[in-house]
Amino acid sequence: MSNPALRDSKVVLAVTGGIAAYKAVEVCRRLVDSGAHVIPLLTDGALRFVGEATFSALGSERARVSLFEDEDPIAHVTLGRLADLILVCPATARSLGSYAAGISDDLLGATLLATRAPVVVCPAMHAEMWEHPAVGDNLSLLRSRGVTVVWPEEGRLAGGDFGAGRLAGCDSIVSTVAEVIGADKSELRAKGGSMAGLRVLVTAGGTREPVDPVRYLGNRSSGKQGYAIAESAWARGAEVSVVATTSRPVPPGVEVELVETAEEMRQAVQRRRDADVVVMAAAVADFRPSRMSAEKIKRSGKPTTIPLEPTPDILAELAKTSPRGQTLVGFAAETQDLLGNAEAKLRSKGVDLLAANDVSAPGAGFGHDTNAVVMIDSRGGRASVPLSSKARVAEEILDRVLALRSQPECGEEPSNTLEGSDGGGRLPCVGTRPDRDLNLLVSHP
Ligand code: PMT
Repeated sequence: MSNPALRDSKVVLAVTGGIAAYKAVEVCRRLVDSGAHVIPLLTDGALRFVGEATFSALGSERARVSLFEDEDPIAHVTLGRLADLILVCPATARSLGSYAAGISDDLLGATLLATRAPVVVCPAMHAEMWEHPAVGDNLSLLRSRGVTVVWPEEGRLAGGDFGAGRLAGCDSIVSTVAEVIGADKSELRAKGGSMAGLRVLVTAGGTREPVDPVRYLGNRSSGKQGYAIAESAWARGAEVSVVATTSRPVPPGVEVELVETAEEMRQAVQRRRDADVVVMAAAVADFRPSRMSAEKIKRSGKPTTIPLEPTPDILAELAKTSPRGQTLVGFAAETQDLLGNAEAKLRSKGVDLLAANDVSAPGAGFGHDTNAVVMIDSRGGRASVPLSSKARVAEEILDRVLALRSQPECGEEPSNTLEGSDGGGRLPCVGTRPDRDLNLLVSHP
């Protein structure tokens, strides 16, 4: 089916030499079906796994295979200039290393250096290779230069092995290409490294509060929004920790602690409480059974009620003892009066920034790949992000975090005049961080 973002866009599909090369055939077909003009490019390694004729038949043009034997004497420059996007799928460890090092000893290497178009790479390799620090470092470097990575999944690998490093699914590759082509990549590239030196803690997923050994009270959170924030912070150079109830692929170097209950999440968060930025994207249960039954509750026991007690409020607890300079971000999952409830939550939780989502709106909130949020902050600033990918929402939230961090703290002498302040004396804040609240409203659009 045609995709508006891909229609008439020129995509150079570069296939490198790994067992996953056969899956690029399907990616090629899907891109063409979506309306893209696909020019296949096969490396020598790729030709050991798949045929030139297949890609020439399925692509929009004949496949290119050589830097020197093409009828165009500067094939790499021609391809680099006409591409709206270059997709390297699959990307082997070798091709990533060459690209990171700027080596141009074949058509792909030269084209990647000759282009100003956005580049998307889809790593695929054996688990041991994927976990090698050299691969992580190369990806980190490429990310810092604005390259988009479609993370591999866990699954069956060549030789019957199982582990991380399997090529991402065709759907997520095609949707990432559409998203990157649609986005302003130069703006995203400019953000590389903007969080270098910061420790960022993100929570993700929904807690599970046990009723008995087989049942729990839970919610529908998939962890996608939290992990998207973690990935975005990593791409900006931050040192990232994730405390989550769900496992998802993460970039190399991101620390993940898996927990189950609100109390476990609280303890894991408390251990990292000195982070510079804390983003509580997890859907934490507000109540838990007062007592977990040691045995499975029998149907014959005819239980009609489960007594509940409140869980610890992790975010509110953090806010009370938040170290100076820390930025606390909360989420609000609402189904009505989004702004009213968000404002109440900003105050009751005592956070610097609150991202409120209407989880009953189509395509937003739990489980979706997309979300829409209204952001309000303790300085009175407001902004909304319309329905977009969770990655885009993550970018907007982190932009807002950085903007807040660049302003002087409430009560401090501002280093320069801010819109809405009187340009001197203590900077007023709306937030309810106990040591900072001057209870004044200032609007910073
Ligand atoms: O995970 P996904 O499927 O991608 O879905 C994303 C999401 C909908 C879960 C996410 O966008 C979101 O809204 N997360 C917060 C959900 C939530 O618990 O909202 P709340 O309004 O109940 O809580 C407000 C804030 O307090 C949240 O930051 C929450 O993490 C925090 N909280 C809540 C209860 C509690 N006991 N301790 C807390 O710290």
